[in-house]
Amino acid sequence: WEKPDGGLFTQRLLVVANRLPVSAVRRGEESWSLEVSGGGLVSALLGVKEVEAKWIGWAGVNVPDEPGQRALTKALAEKRCIPVFLDEEIVHQYYNGYCNNVLWPLFHYLGLPQEDRLATTRSFQSQFAAYKKANQMFADVVNEHYEEGDVVWCHDYHLMFLPQCLKKHNANMKVGWFLHTPFPSSEIHRTLPSRSELLRAVLAADLVGFHTYDYARHFVSACTRIMGLEGTPEGVEDNGRLTRVAAFPIGIDSDRFIQALQSTKVQEHIKELKERFSGRKVMLGVDRLDMIKGIPQKILAFEKFLEENQYWRDKVVLLQIAVPTRTDVPEYQKLTSQVHEIVGRINGRFGTLTTVPIHHLDRSLDFQALCALYAVTDVALVTSLRDGMNLVSYEFVACQDAKRGVLILSEFAGAAQSLGAGAILVNPWNITEVAASIDQALNMSAEEREKRHLHNFLHVTTHTAQEWAETFVSELNDTVVEAQQRIRQ
Ligand code: G6P
Repeated sequence: WEKPDGGLFTQRLLVVANRLPVSAVRRGEESWSLEVSGGGLVSALLGVKEVEAKWIGWAGVNVPDEPGQRALTKALAEKRCIPVFLDEEIVHQYYNGYCNNVLWPLFHYLGLPQEDRLATTRSFQSQFAAYKKANQMFADVVNEHYEEGDVVWCHDYHLMFLPQCLKKHNANMKVGWFLHTPFPSSEIHRTLPSRSELLRAVLAADLVGFHTYDYARHFVSACTRIMGLEGTPEGVEDNGRLTRVAAFPIGIDSDRFIQALQSTKVQEHIKELKERFSGRKVMLGVDRLDMIKGIPQKILAFEKFLEENQYWRDKVVLLQIAVPTRTDVPEYQKLTSQVHEIVGRINGRFGTLTTVPIHHLDRSLDFQALCALYAVTDVALVTSLRDGMNLVSYEFVACQDAKRGVLILSEFAGAAQSLGAGAILVNPWNITEVAASIDQALNMSAEEREKRHLHNFLHVTTHTAQEWAETFVSELNDTVVEAQQRIRQ
């Protein structure tokens, strides 16, 4: 593979994730347009430069016909992407079903589906079968494109079977797996009917990575307690074979945000926003509309704050950007109605003929508009009930070097471990505490804001996505070399 300077990369990287960094929209029989996909995984990996990677994944669309598949494959190749084509039934059972109705809520401590979320045990079994089948489909595409010496980096809860599928086909493949969500306590994981099968499939990888040390520890405990394997300081041992397990906290491409702030477009947006909200403090939430993000809890805390602080009622506004996600899953549909209901009630209660306290948008913003919004914000509110890392908190900090706003951050987001000293940490379930922290943030002295901001800014600008990817890939290479040495001894 060629480098931009004409040289050659010494190693190829195949990134395999459920979702490609671009989603495809069909414009005609053989014509496609590509749009950047949402979510933390995409935003982090887009920040990885200089690593010569190809990305294998689902384009987020059903393409049953061959001409359409051929045209899309060609369009994606220009973006160094390779599609995995999943039909509607597989998407329904694997993506909506097992991934987003079973594993996602479980890994975020929301438990397994109850009767209303899971009609019969049979559907659970068929979802699990579809999950395995989909993982094998991803593996088939990897095998088709793999060349000896490539590093294969599998991502996230959608692809827990992938390491096993790949190693069965080629035991010498270098395979890493990284989880972008929390890995829950072993007591939560053990409730999953297929708990051991999933763990064993992941353990086929050479290196298994998590955002935090706690998640890595939970994973090792699950392997030791549920499967009786041996946990070592290096990872998990099974019959003399070691799977290395470690923490690799992700970051963002902070330069991209910092540079964007200088652009004319972003400066124009900033000017407009300042005029629009002049005389009011701006509070901001940016989340996918997902139950793990604690959006209702955040809005109820804001309501409590307004209730208790009459002085602030016409001097503060909450802008909540809620990006629709997984809209075919009933839980997500219910959440949308719930959030709309709460926002409407609070705006009715505290709004006037000319202003409302909450502006709620059910859509994403383009990159420039988002940077501008981060830059004019006085207080950002991240109230995830659980979150693997939460890169919105990083993006906010990157855009705040002029303003030095305050970050209110859930202690249940992975980011609490890296930005905890600069942020105000809260338990998002405790609405009284979050309301009090809003008061604290709005009244914080300039010196304290400065001190907290500098702490976080230093972290965000030094622990980047680039560094994260390089560390993981080099650790994977070292792990494989060490394993080979052990075998020779
Ligand atoms: C989280 C997950 C990603 C996922 C993203 C968006 O960040 O860790 O794997 O891609 O959410 O969700 P979606 O279901 O739209 O891909």
